[in-house]
Amino acid sequence: MHSFHYQNGTLHCEGVDLAALAAEHGTPLYVYSGGTILDHFRRLSGAMGAELDCLVCYATKANSNLAVLNLLAKEGAGFDIVSGGELFRVEKAGGDPGKCTFAGVGKTRAEIELGLKKGIYSFNAESEAEVAFISQVAGELGMVAPIALRVNPNVDAKTHKYISTGKSENKFGIDFSSIREAYARAAALPNVKIRGLQMHIGSQLTSVSPFVEAVEKVLPLVEELKSLYGIEFFSIGGGIGIVYQDSLASGGSDWWIAKDEKPLTIEEYAGRLVPLLKPLGLRIILEPGRFMVGNAGVLLTEVLYEKRGTAKTFKIVDAAMNDLIRPALYEGHHEIAPLKEPVAGKTEVVDIVGPVCESGDFFAQNREIPAIETGDRIALLSAGAYGFVMASNYNSRPLPAEILVSGETATVVRKRQTLDDLIAGEVVPG
Ligand code: LLP
Repeated sequence: MHSFHYQNGTLHCEGVDLAALAAEHGTPLYVYSGGTILDHFRRLSGAMGAELDCLVCYATKANSNLAVLNLLAKEGAGFDIVSGGELFRVEKAGGDPGKCTFAGVGKTRAEIELGLKKGIYSFNAESEAEVAFISQVAGELGMVAPIALRVNPNVDAKTHKYISTGKSENKFGIDFSSIREAYARAAALPNVKIRGLQMHIGSQLTSVSPFVEAVEKVLPLVEELKSLYGIEFFSIGGGIGIVYQDSLASGGSDWWIAKDEKPLTIEEYAGRLVPLLKPLGLRIILEPGRFMVGNAGVLLTEVLYEKRGTAKTFKIVDAAMNDLIRPALYEGHHEIAPLKEPVAGKTEVVDIVGPVCESGDFFAQNREIPAIETGDRIALLSAGAYGFVMASNYNSRPLPAEILVSGETATVVRKRQTLDDLIAGEVVPG
């Protein structure tokens, strides 16, 4: 579900007119629907939690704005974090470190110390060297670190190569073939307590089969670890894909969107996985990022210029790859919806490009969209996950503002950066 639809001729997020919002706050502008995020959290935890002891640890990296984290913290969510910075954010947003899992292949001493002092639920360790180091750091602090090992099940997630993580050639986790020895050695370390097993095979999975294949492959191992070390949880990671060729919510026109992606529904995900996981009698952890926030966010931008070349028509907009890098980095597809409801039938094939000095700076290529003109504003849909968090100041462009909508209320949850923000902390020697 999401909450973007046309109403009285303009695109709305819940009860808020996005055309008015863009006029008031300028563009580029990220806008999130709080109602959509809550709906996604509740549906996933409801479907998985009905029959399982299930903790949803939201993958903070997908969208770590404090307001987004706070919404989820108030719902009782846990958080999957990958840095000391994310742990800091989660705490500031009112999240419980006791419900945090700490992933990532390169945790530093400072991050391990922070995690220990804050009492996180588990360090999800990705190599034997890391486990040994966690034990050493915990020992120096006179503490015992709760850990899980991440197993790499060597399953093909069938997703973009940059976001596939569960094959042997990926840098993540410990090979399935050596995981048992790794547990045995971890169990012998003085300052770790084995708490669980974790895996994550990739992101933007559009079919349930790779999840089922990975869980089925790992189940005997989980049983074994439960009896050998008394593990209490099994994390199956994140990765639930969303539909990028999305239709708008009911009540408006979206005739130009192809809508030929088939969604992976939560009913299907839970329906296939719960029966496999239930007999384990363990706490099941999920680490969804994109599913929770992806379709809850849009990036608003304005058409600055039109350029008709011999080969193409370019619409140059005021957002760029520094604001939303997914098309450039993963050939990610984001639907385009004009803020003014378009007249049916009037379309044009265009490239939507940003002002950054790179040919990779595009949002759409050879895309048939409703006719738009200079000065019109458009929304890039499904930009709530891995959008703002991956933004940079490249080309010395200030970061956009972020707005959270709840019903009729729109709150600026991060101010647009100023030119002074761009040089904060820089020093000219002499
Ligand atoms: N758990 C772990 C250990 C992860 O590495 C990730 C994502 C997640 C959970 C959450 O995965 P999700 O549910 O969001 O698929 N920037 C890329 C996606 C990178 C995903 C990295 N890891 C993109 O824009 O497509």
